[in-house]
Amino acid sequence: MTATIIDGKAFAAKVRGEVAAHVARLKEEHGITPGLAVVLVGEDPASQVYVRNKGTQTLEVGMASFEHKLPAETSEADLLALIANLNADPAVHGILVQLPLPKHLDSDLVINAIDPAKDVDGFHISNVGLLGTGQKSMVPCTPLGCLMMLRDHHGSLAGLNAVVVGRSNIVGKPMAQLLLGDSCTVTIAHSRTKDLGAVCRGADILVAAVGRPEMIPGDWVKPGATVIDVGINRIERDGKGKLVGDVDFGSAVKVAGAITPVPGGVGPMTIACLLANTLTACCRANGLPEPAGLTA
Ligand code: GUN
Repeated sequence: MTATIIDGKAFAAKVRGEVAAHVARLKEEHGITPGLAVVLVGEDPASQVYVRNKGTQTLEVGMASFEHKLPAETSEADLLALIANLNADPAVHGILVQLPLPKHLDSDLVINAIDPAKDVDGFHISNVGLLGTGQKSMVPCTPLGCLMMLRDHHGSLAGLNAVVVGRSNIVGKPMAQLLLGDSCTVTIAHSRTKDLGAVCRGADILVAAVGRPEMIPGDWVKPGATVIDVGINRIERDGKGKLVGDVDFGSAVKVAGAITPVPGGVGPMTIACLLANTLTACCRANGLPEPAGLTA
């Protein structure tokens, strides 16, 4: 058996198309243009690429894009002052501070200075608490993208055994909360889990978010399971640079029922969900109904 490949690139294009249609309607019927502000501190090359892609896609769906590029030596006070301005700016519905921040800046302090209603990353402690208690919140983009793909593939997720490998605040923990919200039986596993292979083999849904290239082999995958690979790892193979996931795709694809490839799986969904979150934040800020199917 060979797994169905879940095409995240096509799915993300569909989500962006839906966002763009909603944005056009907001403009036409209400004269409102959703706006996303992205703050980048320093010159980390990977972050620069992400921020550029976010800016381009924001404009493509018809939203306003506000980019703030600050030097690496920016003080915490200056960064907090910028965030206060963005919080107060009615043209800005979403604020994203690109992580990681330079070491002299306290990420928790900075993230928690964002107005939770504009926290389109869903990283503010208020949003984390709201998600954990099943209340309306802003949901982190990567897990939201994974959830959308899983719902699309399975319909209902109720009663399925889900194993999330990885316990990060950005992916692992919110992913587990979302799966629990959809009535999965959820296990959070990580690098210290005893007999990780046996735990993974119990999963109907296996989400890999550990950041270690190809660490999950095919024989850890239950036959027919759905595998969501969040990893994006750059490795050298045969003298060439290559992107691989946290799952060994070549062996897992022979066992799984469905699997996301790397690249072209979860990756494109993250920015699509960022745009969806910005639209949601804009609708909430204006007391308008939220777009169906684009939130958790
Ligand atoms: N750096 C890597 N991923 C992310 C993300 O989802 N949001 C932010 N703000 N920074 C990141």
